[in-house]
Amino acid sequence: MTAAPAVTSARGGDQPVLRLANVESAYGPVKAIRGVSLQVRRGEIATVLGSNGAGKSTILKTISGIIDPLKGHIEFKGEDITARDPAHIVQQGLSHVPEGREVFPLLSVHDNLAMGAYTRKDRDAVARDMEAVFAYFPILRERASQDAGLLSGGQQQMLAISRAIMAAPELILLDEPSLGLSPKLTKEIFEIVVRINRERGTTLLLVEQNANMALNAADYGYVLENGRIVMEDTCARLREKEDIREFYLGMKEAGVRGERRWKKKKTWR
Ligand SMILES: Nc1ncnc2c1ncn2[C@@H]1O[C@H](COP(=O)(O)OP(=O)(O)OP(=O)(O)O)[C@@H](O)[C@H]1O
Ligand SMILES: [Mg+2]
Repeated sequence: MTAAPAVTSARGGDQPVLRLANVESAYGPVKAIRGVSLQVRRGEIATVLGSNGAGKSTILKTISGIIDPLKGHIEFKGEDITARDPAHIVQQGLSHVPEGREVFPLLSVHDNLAMGAYTRKDRDAVARDMEAVFAYFPILRERASQDAGLLSGGQQQMLAISRAIMAAPELILLDEPSLGLSPKLTKEIFEIVVRINRERGTTLLLVEQNANMALNAADYGYVLENGRIVMEDTCARLREKEDIREFYLGMKEAGVRGERRWKKKKTWR
């Protein structure tokens, strides 16, 4: 099942910064995730792949304390954060970029960024981080005094990621950054996400329907189907698995007689 993998990520150590054990969450009578166990090692990008309604956002909301789980435990840096107050979890160094960005539309870009850093006292470091996000996303500097609600979808995604960085987190939870964006913009944003991981050492847990982008960016991946994790491995190995290639990456292997293989019935596509 989901025993701790023996593999060490290419970039990270093998020290888990986040650990979920047997987590179950529901919306009233609707069980959204069941028995979810996963680990994110320090310094890596981990990803959870899953189609519409698989439970990806629910996993992130449960980690960041927006939803209290019915069962299971969540540990961040060795501390049990299960069902803790979201504000406490942010304070501990865990930032959540929700699905659909959720920037403050009537605040300027600059003020949205400042809101991300509202609990920090280290003014010099905050100013340096503001410069850093402007270097990653120069358009945000150009638009700094404009209302965030006037930005395009892609620019709002950039702002949402930048606002998370402004909290100086050790771990960022990133919910479908590709949602509603063109392939070109999605590629650009993923490149920056990887740079943020490499250059700042920020650990990331990314959930995505876009398996191609996520498997290229991340080190370790979990496949979520109907609220359960059904597969996990390094992304390098997941990319080679026939099921993943066929059902997530849309590639088909030729059969022995050059025919297309029979497509197995799968719930995730
Ligand atoms: N607020 C809610 N009330 C009731 N059911 C919900 C609510 N939010 C999600 N669900 C249900 O929980 C399940 C998991 O939803 P979730 O949003 O976590 O999936 P997801 O993998 O993030 O999907 P998507 O790719 O569409 O964002 C789905 O069956 C969904 O219909
Ligand atoms: Mg979602």
